[in-house]
Amino acid sequence: MQYSQKVLDHFMKPHNVGKIESPDAQATEGSPACGDQVSIYLKVNPEELTIEDIKFQSYGCASNIATASIITDMAKGRTLDKAKKITWKEAADALDGLPPVKMHCSVLAVDTLRSAIKDYEIKHHLAEEAAFNKDAIVEELKKVIYPKVGEDIVTLKMVKYVGFENGVATIDVEIPKFDEHRDNVVEEIKEHLEKFKEIKEVKITM
Ligand code: FES
Repeated sequence: MQYSQKVLDHFMKPHNVGKIESPDAQATEGSPACGDQVSIYLKVNPEELTIEDIKFQSYGCASNIATASIITDMAKGRTLDKAKKITWKEAADALDGLPPVKMHCSVLAVDTLRSAIKDYEIKHHLAEEAAFNKDAIVEELKKVIYPKVGEDIVTLKMVKYVGFENGVATIDVEIPKFDEHRDNVVEEIKEHLEKFKEIKEVKITM
């Protein structure tokens, strides 16, 4: 697998590694695909709602560590609103590319940053904890990136139907049979949805 020099630099000497004692917000997310975990800690300026300090701990691979390193650099000093809009694509571009097979590792880092920001917003009543329903599934599917173009499968209109009944999530997704990323996308969908305790089964039709 070919890593860019920037990925290697951030992997060998990652920025913002560690833990913040008494953070204003934090999140830990894990990847069922590989079992790895990332934690992100935030110190937030309550008046300006900017990220004053940010640190991460990762038990993931090079892609995960390099992505966490670069997105924590990007997030530092930004407002919460701007920081939560940092995308996998921006992180991948800033790292001069990431191998598509390692996509779930870098998406995990981006998701963890968003969850840490959400944690702050919920604690400070800036956002409400969303009730679990079909919309929550669609929101989660927006984190599944189609590697060929680096956009999510909802924006790309690849998701044709989402259903949720009696704990069964049904997703109809349009990916051509010969598409080299087909298995990868299916795995990503399962990985993202199976972590919800409300979902007992994920059915994917194509
Ligand atoms: Fe687990 Fe990359 S293989 S984070």
